[in-house]
Amino acid sequence: MTSVNPNQDYKTLTVLGIETSCDETAAAVVSGPRDRDILSNVVRSQIDDHTEFGGVVPEIAARAHIDVLDTIVREAMNKADCSWDDIDAVAATAGPGLIGGVIVGFMTAKAIAMAAGKPIIAVNHLEGHALTARLTDDLTFPFLLLLVSGGHSQFLLVRGVGDYERLGTTIDDAIGEAFDKTAKLLGLPYPGGPAVERMAAKGDVTRFKLPRPLLDRPGLDMSFAGLKTALRTQAKKLEPVDDQTIADLCAAFQRAVSDVLAKRTAAALQLLRERYRDTNPTIVVAGGVAANQEIRNALQQAADDAGARFVAPPMALCTDNAAMIAWAGIERLGLRPVDDMDVSPRPRWPLDSTNSGVLGAGKKGAKV
Ligand code: KG4
Ligand code: ZN
Repeated sequence: MTSVNPNQDYKTLTVLGIETSCDETAAAVVSGPRDRDILSNVVRSQIDDHTEFGGVVPEIAARAHIDVLDTIVREAMNKADCSWDDIDAVAATAGPGLIGGVIVGFMTAKAIAMAAGKPIIAVNHLEGHALTARLTDDLTFPFLLLLVSGGHSQFLLVRGVGDYERLGTTIDDAIGEAFDKTAKLLGLPYPGGPAVERMAAKGDVTRFKLPRPLLDRPGLDMSFAGLKTALRTQAKKLEPVDDQTIADLCAAFQRAVSDVLAKRTAAALQLLRERYRDTNPTIVVAGGVAANQEIRNALQQAADDAGARFVAPPMALCTDNAAMIAWAGIERLGLRPVDDMDVSPRPRWPLDSTNSGVLGAGKKGAKV
């Protein structure tokens, strides 16, 4: 697929976006690509529905999306002060994600599109994350994206709309998942990332030594499952662990993750320079883990050292939201015909379709 010219001058479009692939039910109205504007961005988190289970329960997530999606869409339309006449298209996440939730959102979007006589755009959730920085910042292709969330941890080269190359990924747990599992084994609440960060602030980072998995190997792949296991081994030796020990373990864990990300980011920027002769590379970070201040600082430092630009969209647009889906729809609309009504939601949908998933290809295509 050819990439869109970032300066292409096509008319301003207004798109309704819908996102339901994990535990946020979201709808937003965005206009662009000229005069980019987020007219509304409504997100309802389901965290309270899942906390007692220590993680997202797919069936509960799907049901919760059904309960609130119509209200959220209405709220997004009202806040944007839009009627259906003002909307050019409906864009919705069609994957990857928890399939029950994806089906709820995408089928609702199809129904709205059909009833309102609008085109439907099937958006890849990862593409939503990948293109967000072009909504919030003046950013031209190519750029490097580090996507770090509960479900994904990958370096992507974003060459254009629909033109991605995955440069490296986790070979086991996603980083957010590693934070969540670490929190759980230390008795901290879900979601684990913010809980671990809060404890780490009170910890002594020098007390425990944790490994930097895979850093001794070339390439940009990462591994976080071993880190969590090493932490568990240290914690077991000291059982019952007191609050200070938990804080020290959190500090060591957070430092190990930050180190791995900073080193891999430095290597990714170097690769961009060498392979693509990109003398002023830009690295964009997205995903819930980007909320972590130590990780942000480490990435900023890695970018500074490499003479690169570091872009971190505002947190509300780094975590799952529908403005990014509407925006990806707008970028897509400038590039290709809209999707047919017979497009199906899919649980797995790698951005880089030439790259089979590290976790295996499976019947339904490569995992992310
Ligand atoms: O992008 P996101 O909101 O949802 C998806 O996974 O798609 O990311 C949620 C993940 C969770 O695993 C959560 O623990 C992690 O991001 N997270 C953090 C922080 N805030 C959220 N991880 C580390 N530090 C944080 N401050
Ligand atoms: Zn996401």
